[in-house]
Amino acid sequence: MLIKTFASAVQGVDAQTIAVEVNAGGLVAPNKKMYHLVGLPDNAVREGFERIEAALKNNRFKIPRIKIVVNLAPADIRKAGSSYDLPIALGILGATRQLDLPDIEEFMIMGELSLDGSLRPITGALPMAIQARKERFKGLILPIQNAREAAIVNDLDVYGVENMQQAIDVLTGEGDQKPVDLNTRDEFARAREKFPQDFADVKGQEKIKRALEMAAAGGHNVILIGPPGAGKTMLARRMPTILPPLSLHEALETTKIHSVAGKLPSNASLIAVRPFRSPHHTISDVALVGGGSQPSPGEISLAHHGVLFLDELPEFKRTVLEVLRQPMEERKVTISRARLSVDYPASFMLVASMNPCPCGFYNHPDKECVCSPGVVQRYLNKISGPLLDRIDLHVEVTPVSYEMLSSRERPAESSIDIAERVVQARQIQQKRFEGSESLFCNAQMTGRMVREVCALDADGAALLKKAMERLQLSARAYDRILKVARTAADLGGSDRIKIEHLAEAIQYRSLDREDWV
Ligand SMILES: Nc1ncnc2c1ncn2[C@@H]1O[C@H](COP(=O)(O)OP(=O)(O)OP(=O)(O)O)[C@@H](O)[C@H]1O
Ligand SMILES: [Mg+2]
Repeated sequence: MLIKTFASAVQGVDAQTIAVEVNAGGLVAPNKKMYHLVGLPDNAVREGFERIEAALKNNRFKIPRIKIVVNLAPADIRKAGSSYDLPIALGILGATRQLDLPDIEEFMIMGELSLDGSLRPITGALPMAIQARKERFKGLILPIQNAREAAIVNDLDVYGVENMQQAIDVLTGEGDQKPVDLNTRDEFARAREKFPQDFADVKGQEKIKRALEMAAAGGHNVILIGPPGAGKTMLARRMPTILPPLSLHEALETTKIHSVAGKLPSNASLIAVRPFRSPHHTISDVALVGGGSQPSPGEISLAHHGVLFLDELPEFKRTVLEVLRQPMEERKVTISRARLSVDYPASFMLVASMNPCPCGFYNHPDKECVCSPGVVQRYLNKISGPLLDRIDLHVEVTPVSYEMLSSRERPAESSIDIAERVVQARQIQQKRFEGSESLFCNAQMTGRMVREVCALDADGAALLKKAMERLQLSARAYDRILKVARTAADLGGSDRIKIEHLAEAIQYRSLDREDWV
């Protein structure tokens, strides 16, 4: 008998429906294979038969000695991973007439079987659910750990099951399996919980906080430069708390990437707060930007719509930093393989930190730096010019005094208050870039755009000229200063860039000053 059911293959961050056809019939000659799997399966899919056989036997079923052909269609898509076990097993039960499963064609089914028939979680449940709804499937059956993540999709019955028997119960209508009940909007509102950190925890450092507010308001990449213990990591960790809240659309995009990468916690549904990713400096190119023989998103995509924090930037391998450049420009990364090419979105804000020199105390107000000038220069040279070129704000962080740390004086401003100003500034930018598909904030402006919206008056132009000469700023600082000045004006609610905005922007170019080392 021929049975057809459906499964799903994930490519990039989208899923494609795979028909699983199982035909059982015809005797098998002794010593001949009775199980045939076709349709471009990889090894993990092939090995599935051993798991399926054991799971069926351990659940009072059997595999009769007849020829079983499983076809995964369309045949030109590579089927990878172990989550085809469940649809194939159920297909075999139907095809060998051990069970009557008349509705099986109306479901999309995914899950990896253990030998005892219980199910293990899968990756990519969210894109699968999106695809299932698009194709008007009645329901989706998948491991219980992935059910809430898939149930974010409306108008689709998502059944989370613990084992093969429960999946059978869904299909036969026996037992008491019910679809997951989850209201996407409620879930989104609930999951937007408070961050564990807050800028109110940081004592003093008002200037640095202002710089980070600027970064958040204009979407500028930022680097924090300062000695050990100055609070760089602490400050950077609080960055997502002042970014505008995620929209539901953005939340879905980010969740999809985490779903495909298998990085969603078990039973999680939506990622509703901006991600903060801080990979260690020993990370490989592939882990950072994505790829691998079976492509998977890297840290830059996991940071989509959030913050990528590269702590101790000069410690990263130069090649690793080089591969960042293109995705930073395009806000996505394209991974090409012989058979397929996939895109992973990667629109993130870069926050980096570094010590000013190997000993950490170069330019320190009280402590002596023990590095020779050549060493300091070499340390800075580890960061390539083109990468530095994409960082608008250079912020020098000096440690706060003991008195300040231990003081119980007026509490610092909390993240919510800062975020409010950021949101207002972003609204101004939204208006400014209305009608543009690829521009959302000041940091993304092209050179031409900068000249259009960052006009200076005569005083401003004179100040900038003087600053460029006196501080010996390099040419690349010019556009950056104008963009940042635009953000300062937006934060101040001013149409025009005033002298004070420009003056503030000029401060944030430490690493461009030719007297830095
Ligand atoms: N302004 C501050 N307010 C409150 N605590 C602070 C402040 N600055 C530093 N600290 C404390 O000092 C600790 C060390 O800070 P942090 O790890 O952020 O420093 P760092 O600049 O990243 O240093 P390193 O270069 O060694 O990584 C923090 O965990 C925090 O407890
Ligand atoms: Mg640190």
